[in-house]
Amino acid sequence: MEVIQVRSIEEIGQVALREVLAVVKRNSRAVLGLATGSSPIGLYHAMIKDHQKNKTSYANIRTINLDEYVGIESSHSQSYRTFMNEHLFNHIDINPKNIHLPVGNGDDLRLECERYERVLQENNVDLQILGIGSNGHIAFNEPGTSFHSRTHVVTLDERTRQDNARFFNHLDEVPKYAITMGIESILRAKQIVLIAMGKNKAKAVAHMIGGSVSTDCPASVLQLHPNVVVIADEEALSELKVKPSILIDGVKLFKCNG
Ligand code: F6R
Repeated sequence: MEVIQVRSIEEIGQVALREVLAVVKRNSRAVLGLATGSSPIGLYHAMIKDHQKNKTSYANIRTINLDEYVGIESSHSQSYRTFMNEHLFNHIDINPKNIHLPVGNGDDLRLECERYERVLQENNVDLQILGIGSNGHIAFNEPGTSFHSRTHVVTLDERTRQDNARFFNHLDEVPKYAITMGIESILRAKQIVLIAMGKNKAKAVAHMIGGSVSTDCPASVLQLHPNVVVIADEEALSELKVKPSILIDGVKLFKCNG
């Protein structure tokens, strides 16, 4: 696991963009696994700017999102479909046919999970972008989720609902359920880039990097993946016990075991 400490959301965007561009330039038909929430916004902003300035094309890129709320329409202002359209898809040349998100408002969620798992089997993710919950979740795999899980419906942790209430008018409006990619599905990605910002992530980040591999902190499973880059700010890394090993242009690089 490689940990890169950056100073701002812009720097997070730039460092993460480098990883995305390396994949997209190597393979114009690559599969990107994408996340929603505050963490990847700097990256999506950087991708849009780069697309406008340098004409990087996403015409044949396929994208697969991690999760979607259950019980709200895809067109709802806080659905993850709407988030992705507003923060990325509407601003790049991606083909809508190549965009995949779970559908959270259908009649049969079990069938939807099976359909989504097939999408994942048919499109091997080259680069997966992740955030981390303050409780250590990745995607919506809350503490206690099996490391062998595939796409499934989850009951959101009360802490996750409270964390996400900032996007809604009231806590009561935050959905109670979601469809999420499972942990086994996430680990199949060839490379993983996890972005973390802010003090409220510090405990989860410290466990993910230096704690025991345990379902108590789902993100700790990333210690078992051979190609993970964590891009985080100082606050998110404030509880980390290891010291940086390299310093380049003020950017700290931590090399960790696992
Ligand atoms: C979002 C997702 C979640 C978030 C996590 C962090 O698609 O799967 O795991 O990445 O809750 O959210 P933010 O970035 O808003 O702090």
